[in-house]
Amino acid sequence: MNNTYIANNDQNTKDTLMSNKTYFIETYGCQMNVYDSELVATQLEKTGYKATKDIESASLIFLNTCAIREKAQETVHNRLNSLEYLKKRNPDLLIGVLGCMAQNLKDDLLLNKPYVDVILGPDSYRRIPEIIQNRVHSMDHLVDTKLSKFEIYDDLFPSRKDGVNAWISIMRGCDKFCTFCIVPFTRGRERSRPVDSIVTEAKKAVKNGFVEITLLGQNVNSYTTPNGDFSDLLEQVAKIEGIKRIRYTSPHPRDFDDKLLNVMSKYQNICNYIHLPLQAGSSTVLKRMNRTYNREEFINLVKKIRYYLPNCSISTDIIVGFPGETEDDFLETIEMVKINKFNSAYMFKYSSRPGTKAAEYENQIDEESKQERLERLIKTQSEITLLQNKKKIGSIEYVLIEKESKKSKNFWSGRTDGNTWTVIKKNNEKIKDVVPVLITDAKGVTLFGKSLNHKETIYEAN
Ligand code: 5AD
Ligand code: SF4
Repeated sequence: MNNTYIANNDQNTKDTLMSNKTYFIETYGCQMNVYDSELVATQLEKTGYKATKDIESASLIFLNTCAIREKAQETVHNRLNSLEYLKKRNPDLLIGVLGCMAQNLKDDLLLNKPYVDVILGPDSYRRIPEIIQNRVHSMDHLVDTKLSKFEIYDDLFPSRKDGVNAWISIMRGCDKFCTFCIVPFTRGRERSRPVDSIVTEAKKAVKNGFVEITLLGQNVNSYTTPNGDFSDLLEQVAKIEGIKRIRYTSPHPRDFDDKLLNVMSKYQNICNYIHLPLQAGSSTVLKRMNRTYNREEFINLVKKIRYYLPNCSISTDIIVGFPGETEDDFLETIEMVKINKFNSAYMFKYSSRPGTKAAEYENQIDEESKQERLERLIKTQSEITLLQNKKKIGSIEYVLIEKESKKSKNFWSGRTDGNTWTVIKKNNEKIKDVVPVLITDAKGVTLFGKSLNHKETIYEAN
């Protein structure tokens, strides 16, 4: 069903909109949303809109939303409530909700937030210019949350500000259906973008001064096209001249193969870093999560990665308090964190997502136990992160300078190959340089070091 409807006609609206065409996009959630917001910006700029940093004066406000946990949704609800006064002040203001919440909660939004004009799911951004044109003739809501089996926006290129790292989406959607996750419902089926289109975008990014590329997808390693799989794509990107660093996120442990490790070890500009979501340490819980691997398989995969890529940093995602998780199951998660010695982890309390299988499971865990488990897990992982970072003291790490340190303008902040933020005293280096750094200290999640700045040291792609 195509649930788009447009009505009414108002010439005044058109005139007002045309005289002040500025947009403000606020992005919530994952990097895929950051990328999508850049695509949306391109679409808006096509219709003559210009970006503004001042939300109060914008004539169009889009919130690109996230539905992964309840808290993310609450944040957007609160934000929308706080924007209602702007609409009252200026009825011509166009407010839009984009992304996963639009997909998930369109009826709720239509009912409870009548001042939201536009509701667009993640596969509907191609229609933005047309929607804006129609909107100027219309004062009614516009909703399009139809999911597509094909939309990959392969011919649309994002409007990027200057920066060090360019995110490039290589596939959309997810077919894994982990029982806790809303993504397969909000973002639809898996589709891969052609190799050529990705390589073109990467080359463009390099030309525009970006030195790091991060390939993005819900499941990057299920990427598949007639011209190659994920490893083939990674190799193509690694060969592009001028890319100092390549990262990717996130692979699924099930689809991780030796070919990928081979490509990673072959190219120096592919970072020694893998984000490998574990989710839970107990095989019983993993089965009920539909993760399609068990505890032993995950441990063996981590061992294999460290064998092929000895200095590879590994981070992970972990959920505590999944329905039915016993204290013993949770202790297995704690044990897994210790066995695998992750360099870092994103840790979450399970959040029930209506419509997913796990939301229907019995034995939902109470909030207090979830909180208590989360705190124990964070404590254990923080100790391991610090231990892993302390091991680096005395070694030389290559740091890509990204910005001035927040603490002092005499220091730079950048990331190591293994994705650890590192602070160094400014010498004669500049942003986007890769410099050898002698690590002298580790505190919390951050490394501190001294630049051994021999003018400039830059990775060469093989
Ligand atoms: N509750 C808590 N965390 C979740 N994630 C996905 N769905 C949920 C949920 N319902 C986490 C997973 C995933 C990360 C992006 O978000 O750990 O890897
Ligand atoms: Fe969600 Fe699982 Fe797909 Fe990741 S792999 S997006 S956790 S369903």
